[in-house]
Amino acid sequence: MHPQQAVIDRWSGAAPFWEKHREMIRAMFEPVSQALMEEALIGEGQRVLDVATGPGEPALSVAAHVGASGEVVGVDPIAGMVAAARRAAERAGFRNARFEVASADQLAFPSDSFDAVISRFGAMFFPAPVEGLREMLRVLKPGRKMALAVWAAVENNPFFHVVSGVLDRFVAPPPVEPDAPDAFRYSSPGKLLALVQEAGAVMARERVLTFPIEARVSVEEFWAVRWEMSEKLRERVAMLSAGELDEVKRQAIEALGEYSRDGVMSFSGSVLIVSGTKSAE
Ligand SMILES: C[S@@+](CC[C@H](N)C(=O)[O-])C[C@H]1O[C@@H](n2cnc3c(N)ncnc32)[C@H](O)[C@@H]1O
Repeated sequence: MHPQQAVIDRWSGAAPFWEKHREMIRAMFEPVSQALMEEALIGEGQRVLDVATGPGEPALSVAAHVGASGEVVGVDPIAGMVAAARRAAERAGFRNARFEVASADQLAFPSDSFDAVISRFGAMFFPAPVEGLREMLRVLKPGRKMALAVWAAVENNPFFHVVSGVLDRFVAPPPVEPDAPDAFRYSSPGKLLALVQEAGAVMARERVLTFPIEARVSVEEFWAVRWEMSEKLRERVAMLSAGELDEVKRQAIEALGEYSRDGVMSFSGSVLIVSGTKSAE
């Protein structure tokens, strides 16, 4: 299967669930959106591109930040994600945000046209990462910044490993080929940084962001959200018998209970923020 087709299949299936849980996802990862805005030096009146926007984040958080004199464009290759983002913008009454179907490596915008380019949890899924990063730099104005957020090591992210650890005991996780698109593809420090440099960015840098991932939901609701959000978990859950599923759910809810207090789920999250500047020459 062509790598781009594999991405489309995987994320098309996820789009309805990401739209359903959009508000919870927005709130849980808001600290990452704030970190990207700071890193890319985003301010009022700017024109910003959000690549791999999914159902519209961080694009709509940025739209609020740049204000009516600014503009945000969000792109994603999945039509269902873009439709969800447009609905969210409409509901919230944003007039300064628009969304287009596009992959990172094929952006239909003129060169040097954005004040900042950002992407939250997108780069690790690009089938052609350096081409994507090069294209993101092409549309950036000289001297301006691109900032990317990717997951750090899975061991430091109980948001992922609590449920997948339980499931691993029932269904073996599928082998991940080295460098295949995956949530933890760029979790090793320096890996994405090197690609940002290879794509042509100057003053590239990386830092670890540790932040609380919080959601005011019950443990049972969180369990449902967690596996619905992940195509990989949904595929593995579908392989369980009804009895096994009951047992996985029981064990997952027990393990997740440790992260629940007063009706709030709270995990420590760990993310790498990688950025680079487009040369002014
Ligand atoms: C984990 S979701 C992140 C969505 C959103 N940015 C957020 O943080 O909530 C990953 C997104 O990357 C998108 N994606 C996958 N391959 C892509 C590519 N080549 N170019 C741009 N986006 C891509 C998927 O369609 C999906 O919406």
